[in-house]
Amino acid sequence: MTKNIAFFDSGIGGLTVLHTALQQFPEESYIYYADTLHVPYGTKSADEVRRYIFACADAIVREGADAIVIACNTATSLAVNALRSMYGIPIIGMEPAVKPAVEMNRDNDKRVLVFATALTLSQTKYNELVSRVDDEHRVDSFALPELVEWCEQLEFDPVKITAYFRSKLADLDLEQYGTVVMGCTHYPFYTPILRKMLPNHIQILDGSQGTVNHLQQRLGLGVQQQSESIKLDQEGNVSFFSSSGRTEDQDKMRIALQYLKERSL
Ligand code: DGL
Repeated sequence: MTKNIAFFDSGIGGLTVLHTALQQFPEESYIYYADTLHVPYGTKSADEVRRYIFACADAIVREGADAIVIACNTATSLAVNALRSMYGIPIIGMEPAVKPAVEMNRDNDKRVLVFATALTLSQTKYNELVSRVDDEHRVDSFALPELVEWCEQLEFDPVKITAYFRSKLADLDLEQYGTVVMGCTHYPFYTPILRKMLPNHIQILDGSQGTVNHLQQRLGLGVQQQSESIKLDQEGNVSFFSSSGRTEDQDKMRIALQYLKERSL
């Protein structure tokens, strides 16, 4: 039996995680739900965003989801525990990959740079994670709110984005860093542009693969072969929903997913 797996984000960022799931489990059926009425979450208050998340989760459960992947670091940090206590289905969250990043650099004295939303970075969950794993104080974190805004506008112009990254990184000595963590699911849309600007020794990590591995374990999904027909028409098994219910929002999700597929992100 295929499962009805829901992916949830404030906007189109969670497609970066759904895309990874589609590549590995092309035969499951997916719901993608974006809170397009309220994106971005990362610049709003925790109480306000929590209310939005609960309303979306209700709508997703009504659609008949067998599991929910909270494909949003911000929503996970605010509400994953509450959601788990509210619903009897598996709820898979994600958090910035700080732990693997710190471990990767344990022996080379390099620092770790975490990009995530301001709201994620301000939460106790994130700060406890960093205190737990960063015993040598080698983690630096900051938010890139413009990337969420531009991503939602499907703005992927490499010249504009390169200039933005340059200005954000201008004060850092990049030689000191070993790993950059993309701790917001919108940011990996821009990984190829960032890759071109960083010194080769810096690795870029995001949480997509780890989250899909976790989903696989929780649901007991077996390895699936990608048949040619599924490869060509992967969208057939994804239903798109948004809090606005506007068809333009669904079109945007389709275009963004296609963008990820074409670039194998
Ligand atoms: N994609 C989200 C995350 O992973 C939230 C971005 C936003 O709405 O600000 O944190």
